[in-house]
Amino acid sequence: MSVNRQLCLKRNIQQGEPVSLDLFEVREAPLPEPAAGEFLVKTAALGFSPAQRAYLMGTASRFHAPVDLGEVMRGRGVGRVMASRHPDFREGDVVACSTGWQDYSIQSGDVSGMLVKTLQRVSDPQQPLHLHLGILGSSGFSAYFGFLDIGRPQAGDTVVVSAAAGGVGSIVCQIARLKGCRVVGIAGGAEKCAWLKQVVGVDEAIDYKADDLDQKFQEYCPSGIDVYFDNVGGDTLDAAMKNIALRGRAVICGMISTEYHEPPLPGPRYYYNLIYKRARMEGFFVWDYHEQFPAAEKELIDWYKAGDLKPTEVVYQGLLSAPDALQSLFSGADCGIRVVDC
Ligand SMILES: NC(=O)c1ccc[n+]([C@@H]2O[C@H](COP(=O)([O-])OP(=O)(O)OC[C@H]3O[C@@H](n4cnc5c(N)ncnc54)[C@H](OP(=O)(O)O)[C@@H]3O)[C@@H](O)[C@H]2O)c1
Repeated sequence: MSVNRQLCLKRNIQQGEPVSLDLFEVREAPLPEPAAGEFLVKTAALGFSPAQRAYLMGTASRFHAPVDLGEVMRGRGVGRVMASRHPDFREGDVVACSTGWQDYSIQSGDVSGMLVKTLQRVSDPQQPLHLHLGILGSSGFSAYFGFLDIGRPQAGDTVVVSAAAGGVGSIVCQIARLKGCRVVGIAGGAEKCAWLKQVVGVDEAIDYKADDLDQKFQEYCPSGIDVYFDNVGGDTLDAAMKNIALRGRAVICGMISTEYHEPPLPGPRYYYNLIYKRARMEGFFVWDYHEQFPAAEKELIDWYKAGDLKPTEVVYQGLLSAPDALQSLFSGADCGIRVVDC
């Protein structure tokens, strides 16, 4: 292909509006050429994060500038180096990086000044390459570091995971099982709960849309929650903190249920349990672990090859399906990690 298809932002998203192709102009640009110190990457697959919705709003979020009108939509992808004028990257290398929603991107290979160090060399590429955005990539790293480094699980712990049928959540559940923990997953709907039990292998599943969370926590976690891995915030975080165990750990990964409310909603209600239960609540940012990604990647690949870590990727086909894949994070339409094969 000699043109570079790009999804460029045409207009900002409105409050409550679903992400759709309508927000973008599909542009055909010439194939870019790397200058000295740069390399050209052909996008093989794209990954998605709820933070990308903030890019479309036209206002700066906590970590990221908005995507300007006319600019290529920002996003993480994995791909192969097609041409290189960079001393450390060769044609054929596989990298995961900020490719944007386009067929080809130019990368500088320099992460030194970046707050979000997105460039990652994939040293042991597995097929399909989209695994390096999912269980073996940024979703896997978020689960790995958030759960192991902040959650500090012990065998026998009771672990509760919100958005357990989502990307990061489904991996946390699997790692928790690997570490000998009892795992309780929370998801929206009976179908997702069945998937959690049958595919992910949780011990118990709670449907937060139908069940009384507090009652279910008392039933499934009678000695309290040792590790609560939170992806959603809001009422679910409140119910979990009400039931946190003595010296329990709440890992704050995300807060998709409240993140985009303006003005911000009131904060956690049962945080007095941080005192009474000598508990800990701590957030983390996966990109802070950038230098440890190679070691994590190796362990995740070992678990994957041994069959202990199951792929949960849901594959959308083609660059133009990227808006639908992103919207699925908010509609909850799929189980697992959303990726687009380009
Ligand atoms: N701290 C970090 O460094 C870091 C890194 C990566 C991701 N994150 C955060 O981790 C979380 C998970 O990310 P992900 O990419 O793996 O997404 P995800 O969990 O695959 O997708 C989001 C899921 O959240 C649930 N959800 C959506 N709206 C909700 C609402 N209003 N209330 C409750 N649940 C809702 C949906 O599941 P149901 O259908 O079950 O409701 C949906 O499938 C996000 O909050 C993300 O921002 C943080």
